[in-house]
Amino acid sequence: MAEATRTCWLQWRMLVPIIAFVLFSSTVSGNFFEPFNVSYDHRALIVAGKRRMLVSAGIHYPRATPEMWPDLIAKSKEGGADVVQTYVFWNGHEPVKGQYNFEGRYDLVKFVKLVGSSGLYLHLRIGPYVCAEWNFGGFPVWLRDIPGIEFRTDNKPFKEEMQLFVKKIVDLMREEKLFCWQGGPIIMLQIENEYGDIEKSFGQKGKDYVKWAASMALGLGAGVPWVMCRQTDAPENIIDACNGYYCDGFKPNSNKKPVLWTEDWDGWYARWGGRLPHRPAEDLAFAVARFYQRGGSFQNYYMYFGGTNFGRTSGGPFYITSYDYDAPLDEYGLRSEPKWGHLKDLHAAIKLCEPALVAADSPQYIKLGPRQEAHVYHGDSQTEGKICSAFLANIDERRAVSVKFNGQSYTLPPWSVSILPDCRNVAFSTAKVGAQTSVKTAELVTPPFGSLSIMQKTMNEDDVSNISKSWMALKEPIGIWNENNFTFQGLLEHLNVTKDSSDYLWHKTRILVSEEDISFWEENGANPAVSIDSMRDVLRIFVNGQHSGSVVGHWVKAVQPVRFVQGYNDLILLTQTVGLQNYGAFLEKDGAGFRGQAKITGFKNGDVDLSKLSWTYQVGLKGESEKIYAVENNANAEWSILEPDVSPSIFTWYKTYFVTPDGTDPVVLDFGSMGKGQAWVNGHHIGRYWNITSSKDGCEACDYRGAYDSDKCRTNCGNPTQTRYHVPRSWLNPSNNLLVLFEEIGGNPFKISVKTVTASLLCAQVSESHYPPLRKWSKPEFMNGTISIEGTAPEMHLHCEEGNVISSIEFASYGTPKGSCQNFSTGRCHSSNSLSIVSEACEGRNSCFVEVSNAAFGNDPCRGTVKTLAVMARCSPSWKTGYLGLRSTVSRSEQ
Ligand code: GAL
Repeated sequence: MAEATRTCWLQWRMLVPIIAFVLFSSTVSGNFFEPFNVSYDHRALIVAGKRRMLVSAGIHYPRATPEMWPDLIAKSKEGGADVVQTYVFWNGHEPVKGQYNFEGRYDLVKFVKLVGSSGLYLHLRIGPYVCAEWNFGGFPVWLRDIPGIEFRTDNKPFKEEMQLFVKKIVDLMREEKLFCWQGGPIIMLQIENEYGDIEKSFGQKGKDYVKWAASMALGLGAGVPWVMCRQTDAPENIIDACNGYYCDGFKPNSNKKPVLWTEDWDGWYARWGGRLPHRPAEDLAFAVARFYQRGGSFQNYYMYFGGTNFGRTSGGPFYITSYDYDAPLDEYGLRSEPKWGHLKDLHAAIKLCEPALVAADSPQYIKLGPRQEAHVYHGDSQTEGKICSAFLANIDERRAVSVKFNGQSYTLPPWSVSILPDCRNVAFSTAKVGAQTSVKTAELVTPPFGSLSIMQKTMNEDDVSNISKSWMALKEPIGIWNENNFTFQGLLEHLNVTKDSSDYLWHKTRILVSEEDISFWEENGANPAVSIDSMRDVLRIFVNGQHSGSVVGHWVKAVQPVRFVQGYNDLILLTQTVGLQNYGAFLEKDGAGFRGQAKITGFKNGDVDLSKLSWTYQVGLKGESEKIYAVENNANAEWSILEPDVSPSIFTWYKTYFVTPDGTDPVVLDFGSMGKGQAWVNGHHIGRYWNITSSKDGCEACDYRGAYDSDKCRTNCGNPTQTRYHVPRSWLNPSNNLLVLFEEIGGNPFKISVKTVTASLLCAQVSESHYPPLRKWSKPEFMNGTISIEGTAPEMHLHCEEGNVISSIEFASYGTPKGSCQNFSTGRCHSSNSLSIVSEACEGRNSCFVEVSNAAFGNDPCRGTVKTLAVMARCSPSWKTGYLGLRSTVSRSEQ
């Protein structure tokens, strides 16, 4: 027996180099897996012949940089995802009809390959309508110009374009061998997106379109299942999937289809001037556990990583540049705790149940109380024999309830699911967060600016703040700025003119004012007013070169008093978009600028109809057209030195240079001192900025219990919605980074600062009685229906972000500590060596663990009492601490 094992071992050793070579060469050729097929039955997707319970992480590739992708994918995998899900962004890939872009952030093939090489699967949602808070829902704006086109209905020109693009993507994926049957990661596709929400608007044509879209997609021979989300009339061969905050109890339109949740909204997006949504980790875990409890088999976090709407990619109305989404990975790709860690534990628990979940065709339902229920999955496993997993739910929003199940008693916290992988032991309760909490701060980096040699002399040597004295400015002309303009009798629709090549459209005309008008106004103490029936998003009015008012809104009436002088007056209307509409029917008709009547009221002889006048139009800004934000062009513009004491001015370009902060922490620019505009770093458009404050109300204390909606648990009331703007490190040079801003309403660039974001404080609380740590269960052994767990003492795990170490333990108490993160204090019972034990285990390390037991602390500080360990730790960049290279930064699990 031993001899046989040895021989096998030797043969195995000889095979290693061959296997390594095969693996390597297959990775290079784009084959990441042994080719496999994916099909489905009523219970689950069947991957390589086996039903699977899958967890998916939504990541939109253009909302990060290619340099960020590997880390995002690795953190998704570490967090327990099996699948990565993304949309495909048509307007990014085909900005000009027939001219494709698959480079940089739009390098879809590279992204899919990275997912495959990490061993994860991919769900590709081609759309090509995507919604996604993305400009125009992903449609290229040129699509509007195709004669006779109507979007997302039985319309020939639209269907032709849609088919061309979808086929282009499917063909590309096939050529690159990225489908699972070719050894690639793609296991599933999506056609359309939530069409069911708007189908009624199109009557019969809508129904015909659904059928066409389905058969067109299936006809492309992709060889993997297709889904349509929120599509109750999805045809037989397409899986209709659920989107929402909760999808337990969802039933697809055929009992041959599995229950898939394509969008689990784990947070929400934000609008300029809005508050920031947060979805509590306990409620999110509850929703996910309920889904698998009640028969679900595939769940995707929308978003697992939200990222950033770089450039002008954010949709509308008025979506901000950050797409953080309160996702488990934050805008910069840092773990958002405790959400990330809590979900990781949840996924581990679900994985422990997977054998039973896939073995059973449907669960056994047991009512445990008025608002308490169990779903039990029984099955036979070839290797384990009889297996059993159970989910116990308490959907009571207020009370914890004790229930009896399987001969044992369980206390179920309110609004919770307890997961029992062996039908006996609770491996996880959605309401008990064992993961660490992290408090992120943006740290000021000094001195970031000041390498503009011409400005050195103005540097104030005493000023240790980050305010640069080295800014240059350039005025943007108000109105028509070159001969590349045209004149037209009447008011044109904004997008028809700009084609969305810029946010801005100038309209200029002349208004003749008589002496009689002036005396009429004087006598009546009245003023004329520009009055527009309906406008979006921003209208700025200038009379004789002076700004005389602005209106902001989404298809709102604009009435703005103006002052004219006798004779000819220059009237300039500047219409602006802040992200095109991305949701709803008839997007092609939505447009921008003005709708309805536009006039000037208050003249003695009646209103002036603006649509009858002759207007000169100019698209965009002079600075935009000259690309003065580009490294190679900016020196050609006539910048002048900006004196620190000049008052804020409108329509001004600013530039400076800054030094990249040391380390690896994400870099942000704080534009809290600015007004509204756009910014570029080394020519990369980092997005629109707008310092607009949200309402003071509506940020009540957050209770995870009860159904979530995006108005619950909001934060940031009374503050600007966004002041920090992500600058990916791959866009930076070590120094001399060119920052260019276009400011519309006035701000103080001297107060702009460069910061790095880091999880600087970690807090964690783990009790002795806490369920055993899941990570020890990674290889569960099912023995007669019970799980054997090696070791029972719970552990506290702490980890800083990469490049950081735990520089100090600011609080530690093993006993009965009180309070919460940042407010911990020792209680009646406290082990006096708490701080030294935790410091010894953690300081100088990137991550560490401490056992929560009397043994670890050398004594029992209070017999008969359940002890808790509470810790607050500080993380600092390793380059800043004396620990650099002194201590190993590996945790035990990696050893
Ligand atoms: C869904 C849509 C997504 C996204 C989400 C809200 O309805 O399918 O693309 O817009 O809403 O974030």
